[in-house]
Amino acid sequence: MNEHKMNIHTLRTMKQRGEKITALTAYDFFTAKIMDDVGVHLILVGDSLGMAVLGYENTLPVTMEDVVHHTKAVARAKPQALLVADMPFMSYSTVSAALENAGRLIQAGAEAVKLEGGESIVEQVRALVGAGIPVLGHIGLLPQSILETGGYKIQGRTPQSAERVQRDAAALEQAGVFAMVIEGTATVVAERVTKSVAVPTIGIGAGAHCDGQILVSNDMLGLFTWITPKHVKRYANLAEEMRKAFAAYKSEVESGKFPGAGQSFN
Ligand code: KIV
Repeated sequence: MNEHKMNIHTLRTMKQRGEKITALTAYDFFTAKIMDDVGVHLILVGDSLGMAVLGYENTLPVTMEDVVHHTKAVARAKPQALLVADMPFMSYSTVSAALENAGRLIQAGAEAVKLEGGESIVEQVRALVGAGIPVLGHIGLLPQSILETGGYKIQGRTPQSAERVQRDAAALEQAGVFAMVIEGTATVVAERVTKSVAVPTIGIGAGAHCDGQILVSNDMLGLFTWITPKHVKRYANLAEEMRKAFAAYKSEVESGKFPGAGQSFN
């Protein structure tokens, strides 16, 4: 047994001890390796891969095949972090679809799955947990519901919306999630939810009072520079570094400086 391997119980213990949980998205082997080197606790193969990697405008076109493919790549890094895979749009609209598709993600190497929604998906959550598949909930702003909600709208800003987030959190906890992401939600509401549930909350655009935080890695690395949402803090500017490297390579090939003697064979 590897004592450093994260599991759903260690995350809960972290909440009880008041230790913050760090989570990031990864979609490939080498990023997962580097993340794991620094001890990130949870790696999510998010359906954000639609925008971060595949060039889609939103997460709706992402398929099961896409998430399975990227989950396999991340799983090959054998992370100490808990590896969670996102269930894409329409892959859990019924209990049987949820069971079949979550099973595929677990067989691809995920150790848990994430579903968006609250009261409306409790049957799916119960069935998955009953089948031995740990579930990470996702409440607040739900990117898979943008067609219905009319866009990426911050939740919890009206009493009705705050009440709904709270009800969703309670319903998911009852249904057996091991933790829940709270996305794009007023800080006070996320704080109230965090205090009211025994399972950890992991915030993204939900303020500092959640039990942990998650960011889309491409956003925080400055790789996805076309849009920077307000909740993102950039810890690097890798797009600029890549631009410089590509331009230097082009110029050296064109000028004949590359390859030099050091890169050539006698
Ligand atoms: O897909 C994703 O990256 C997510 C995070 C924003 C939590 O769901």
